[in-house]
Amino acid sequence: MKILITGGLGFIGSHTVVSLVENGFTPIIIDNCSNSSEEVLMQIETIIGKPLTFYKEDVTDGLALDRIFTTEKDIKGVIHFAAAKAVGESVENPLKYYHNNITGLVQLLTIMQNHQVNNMIFSSSCTVYGQVEKMPITEDAPVQAPISPYGNTKKVGEEIIQDVAKSSDLQAILLRYFNPIGAHPSALIGELPLGVPQNLLPFITQTAVGIREKLSVFGSDYPTPDGTCIRDYIHVLDLADAHVIALKRLMNQQQESNIEIYNIGTGKGTSVLEMITAFEEVTQQSLPYEMAPRREGDTTIAFADTTLVNEKLGWKAQRTLEESLDSAWKWQLNISNKTL
Ligand code: UD1
Repeated sequence: MKILITGGLGFIGSHTVVSLVENGFTPIIIDNCSNSSEEVLMQIETIIGKPLTFYKEDVTDGLALDRIFTTEKDIKGVIHFAAAKAVGESVENPLKYYHNNITGLVQLLTIMQNHQVNNMIFSSSCTVYGQVEKMPITEDAPVQAPISPYGNTKKVGEEIIQDVAKSSDLQAILLRYFNPIGAHPSALIGELPLGVPQNLLPFITQTAVGIREKLSVFGSDYPTPDGTCIRDYIHVLDLADAHVIALKRLMNQQQESNIEIYNIGTGKGTSVLEMITAFEEVTQQSLPYEMAPRREGDTTIAFADTTLVNEKLGWKAQRTLEESLDSAWKWQLNISNKTL
């Protein structure tokens, strides 16, 4: 069964492609390689042991999308990852974000409709919840005014899909990811941040390998047990599996309404200092770090209530934080050409 994967060479997309193949699907990948590279395709092909169909195209290009749907003829569903995702950059260049993430989504939905492709999984984010008072966060927590244009594109993206589903045969599952980390155990694919990493784990691994001098812990005076922020870090392979399970639910027409929304996290909160300690223990590396001022826009604490996704999709995160950290470290060593 052919499934179109937009952004299929990105961090989450590439791991999902592997999981799709392992589950008997035929992924058709589109990626413009703006934040990835064609080498990732070769690495995925090495992991799965066969060639893949890849189009180097941009999802905002409706003509290109139309050609792909026409050429491939029988695409049954779409997993839409392709989007820009740097919060800070989105504040500086909001139009890039609205163009990539919103225009891209609208073009994709339009071409899907023209080709009667009615199944979609959408990459959303826990960022749509903002700062929630009550932990863990359930899916019915109100969606808040986003703190960044990036966050707004996820909120508006969800709304666009919901509106389209009301007026057409579209069936969609919106997955709100918490904090994806880790890499494939082969260390052939993982997260490839451009420039200075904004996210915690790539910064940690780059510091441990000597690319960065030290990690700044953003804020030590938060109202948490150790004063640092708490997040729900989920292994990217668990996240990839969630897409495949959600896709099967769509394909088997098991969903209870034409839009379903699920949190994808572990349900467990880990502070920044706990992440540092766990990383040091798992990798036997000592990590230079310093306490620094709070980063603007950070929420104090966010972790998922995963009851709904457990019950409806039968999905639960399987991998431990230690496995995530170990795989991310091996990936970092691999791309830095170092051995343990
Ligand atoms: C961020 C985005 C979120 C996006 C997600 C994608 C913000 C405010 N939020 O989530 O919208 O969906 O990435 O993965 O950017 N930290 C440090 N030092 C660092 C880097 C991070 O202490 O050098 C801390 C942060 O303050 C935070 C935690 O580590 O408490 C996790 O940060 P990060 O990995 O950037 O994820 P989020 O901010 O949760």
